[in-house]
Amino acid sequence: MKLIHLTDLHLVPPGAMLFGFDPAERLRKTIERINRDHADAELCVVTGDLTDEGDFASYEVLHDVLRDLRVPTRLLLGNHDSRESFVRAFPDEARDSDGFVQSVHESSAGRLIFLDTLVEGFGHGSLSDGRLEWLLARLAETPDVPAYLFAHHPLQPIGLPHFEPWSTENWRPIMQAIVGAGNVRHVFHGHVHVDVGGTWSGIPFSASRGVAHQIIPHFTRRDADFVEDAPAFDIALIDVDGVLVHRFEVCDRHVVEVSAEGPVPEGMQ
Ligand SMILES: [Fe+2]
Repeated sequence: MKLIHLTDLHLVPPGAMLFGFDPAERLRKTIERINRDHADAELCVVTGDLTDEGDFASYEVLHDVLRDLRVPTRLLLGNHDSRESFVRAFPDEARDSDGFVQSVHESSAGRLIFLDTLVEGFGHGSLSDGRLEWLLARLAETPDVPAYLFAHHPLQPIGLPHFEPWSTENWRPIMQAIVGAGNVRHVFHGHVHVDVGGTWSGIPFSASRGVAHQIIPHFTRRDADFVEDAPAFDIALIDVDGVLVHRFEVCDRHVVEVSAEGPVPEGMQ
């Protein structure tokens, strides 16, 4: 299965700018690139911070821009979002019985589980108020089926002091429960605006760097430098053997030579 992971769009109302740039324009360019090179993907998952301030006008911008994307899309919420405004703008987006924007997609590679870690008005994430129980129930329903989790906030540490106050509260027991479930094969998240991936107690994870602004990683400082690099998105290739994550930057590259090799062998396409 080919899956697209987008995150941190930070859209603003029409005519407004963010740090001097137009986040909608960055999303449009990203969608153009996806339509050109990856329209065969099964799903595009956007892991939150869809907007910068959670206002309805920004969700309308998202509605408008996503109309061009040729891949089915699933939207998650981040700490910059508003659940109420989102639901008003996207009433058909799946939610759980408590109203959290959590859902399941049975994909060709296994069960994709979308989490809602938003705590309205705060920067950190949470799976309180039944959300963790909902997740564990979904994992237990199909114990022999590989599961892939998607969340805005990281569920594990990423080694950057800046994000320690802004991670998921009680992450350690959450991760221990996820490890205990035995069928989670990868966690995809956003929020951190840096390139990071690894494993925590054997559970692999990857953060996409984001479509809007990005952050220079500092391992000893609590402040953060925001930068305007090229919009980035990830392509995950998922099958019974594993998960491969490729990162793409939406910019013009300087091709120095075209290698004339043969066609891609059967099974590698
Ligand atoms: Fe963000």
